[in-house]
Amino acid sequence: MQRRKIIIDTDPGQDDAAAIMLALASPDELDVLGLTAVAGNVPLSFTSRNLRIVCELCGRPDAKVYEGALKPLNRPQVTAEHVHGKTGLDGAELPEPTMVAQEQNAIDFIIETLRREPEGTVTLCTLGPLTNIAMALTKAPDIASRVQELVMMGGGLFEGGNITPAAEFNIYVDPEAAKIVFGAGIPVVMMPLDVTHQLLTTKARVEKIAALGNRPSQVLVEWLAFFERFDIEKYGSDGGPLHDPSVIAYLLKPDLFTGRHCNVEIETESELTVGMTVADWWGVTGRTANATFMRHVDADGFFELLTERVGRL
Ligand code: RIB
Ligand code: CA
Repeated sequence: MQRRKIIIDTDPGQDDAAAIMLALASPDELDVLGLTAVAGNVPLSFTSRNLRIVCELCGRPDAKVYEGALKPLNRPQVTAEHVHGKTGLDGAELPEPTMVAQEQNAIDFIIETLRREPEGTVTLCTLGPLTNIAMALTKAPDIASRVQELVMMGGGLFEGGNITPAAEFNIYVDPEAAKIVFGAGIPVVMMPLDVTHQLLTTKARVEKIAALGNRPSQVLVEWLAFFERFDIEKYGSDGGPLHDPSVIAYLLKPDLFTGRHCNVEIETESELTVGMTVADWWGVTGRTANATFMRHVDADGFFELLTERVGRL
């Protein structure tokens, strides 16, 4: 089977960590060319540190980690320590990473990789704000046609927002970046809150991960216990939504998801709704479809996949 070449752009975050674990536990299917850190849940210094912690936890100190944007394109940084804790990976005690980030910055790595690899053979997997991708597209517009697919966690429609009533965090942090990405003509697959709010870390599901008994699973359970508390309080649910691994699960088992190819525009002007992903689900605008908006997921199938793979680490 042809391994799929991917770049993971991320702002770890406990749910990002789960996504990275899922990817690194799937070397037969996924060739992770590099992992790029972006400011998001916490500042870049922490997202880079956290990314390297996760790679070492997965036994991959050889993984190539790159550092990208310190802040959004032209807005003040917004972070989410209230959800992820001060470090962004609160919940488990782990040593500082020993592996270092690459000298090359993330934006140049993304550009160089897309120009080097055969056209249409690299998938971008984004788990945080889209600042790095937007900067790469602005610096090198020629790379847009070379991307196989951009699979992203972000946005929402029927579920509304999570950082404001209208906007999901990854889009809200850098709406101008999202506008650039959604307007670049790249095949986009969206994992919005409409999907990720179906992926709840219920007690039964977390117990299955805990039962695996390997160190990475034990740490993941500790991270999830910290990460989910905010959403359990907010939504009164059994467990919290596990957002980012949906991106990697799509690459491994796309049939877990169903959605619709439609037009998605990003609100960047209105104070009230900035960062909203205005998805034309019912096709009323006549605007050109530019993304596959996923709306349903087989949640049990997703957690079976995540649990089985993390058990391999
Ligand atoms: O809104 C959820 C998204 O914002 C997730 O990617 C989470 O890690 C944060 O980045
Ligand atoms: Ca994230």
